[in-house]
Parts: sequence; C-alpha cells; structure tokens
Amino acid sequence: MARVRARPNDLSVGEMAARAGVPVSTLHYYEAEGLIESWRTPANHRRYDRRELRRVAIVRVAQSVGVPLAEIRTVLDRIPRDRAVSAADWAAAAEPWQAMLDERIELMQRLRDQMGHCVGCGCLSLTNCPLYNADDRLGANGAGPRRWLGRPEERESLDD
Ligand code: FES
Repeated sequence: MARVRARPNDLSVGEMAARAGVPVSTLHYYEAEGLIESWRTPANHRRYDRRELRRVAIVRVAQSVGVPLAEIRTVLDRIPRDRAVSAADWAAAAEPWQAMLDERIELMQRLRDQMGHCVGCGCLSLTNCPLYNADDRLGANGAGPRRWLGRPEERESLDD
C-alpha cells in the first residue's frame, strides 16, 4: 500500500472482495504477503486497481491446485507494475511453472484414472496388488504410493 492517485475504475475493498469472491480478510492477507497492492484515498480509504483482480484470481486458482504462496509470489513478482501488462508478460512470468504444473496434471490424471488399481502404497489390499507389488517389493524403493510418486522411470515401467 503506497501510491496515492485518483482512478475512477479503482475498487473499494468491499467491491474488490465481492468481485474476487474472497473475504476482505483474504485481501488483507494477500496484501501483507506482497501478492497484491492497494492505495489510500486522502480520506484514508483503501482502493484497488482493477488489475489486482487478475492477481487475486491467479493466486486463488494456483492455491487450489496446491502451488505454495512463495512460488505464486515468484511469478507475480515478474509481472511489471509500471506499465500495461500483455499476455506475453503473463506467459513469460508463468514459464517457470510449466514443469511443475505438468507434473501436477499427470498426478491428478493418475488419481482420477487409477483409483481402482494398485498404486504401490504397501497396503496389498487389492486383488491386483500381487501382480503389481508382490510382497511389497516397491517399498524397497521408498515411502508412499510408488506407482504414483516414484521416479518417472519407476512409474513408466509399472504402467498398465
Ligand atoms: S494398492 Fe496398496 S500396494 Fe497395491
């Protein structure tokens, strides 16, 4: 919160919260975390540039798929604040997320498609566990569901 200016399209904190679909307290939290910015009117009322709505939207969606706030901040910090922002600016800022998002998408697809299959977790509770994880041999490679979270080569070699 810093700049003082007059822009008729700027939003009050209530308008911002309503349009973004978050509580006012969430806006304050995002601001304290440096994810969004506001400014104060001469009467000391908080105002948000409408463009902050896009930042809030990205924070909410990224959080909903498990992206840590620190990683979200890294991307948002790459978006210029001193000029109009283009689609290319956003695409360039999000580039570091590509591999991480691809990995999350793949994991979500496995979660969606393989709930009825052996995941290599050590439970040996499904009828196909002896086929894919006889005697819990995958446990020797590490903890957790090896067929979902193991090394890529480990997962690929075990795919149906
Ligand atoms: S589902 Fe747990 S070891 Fe097969």
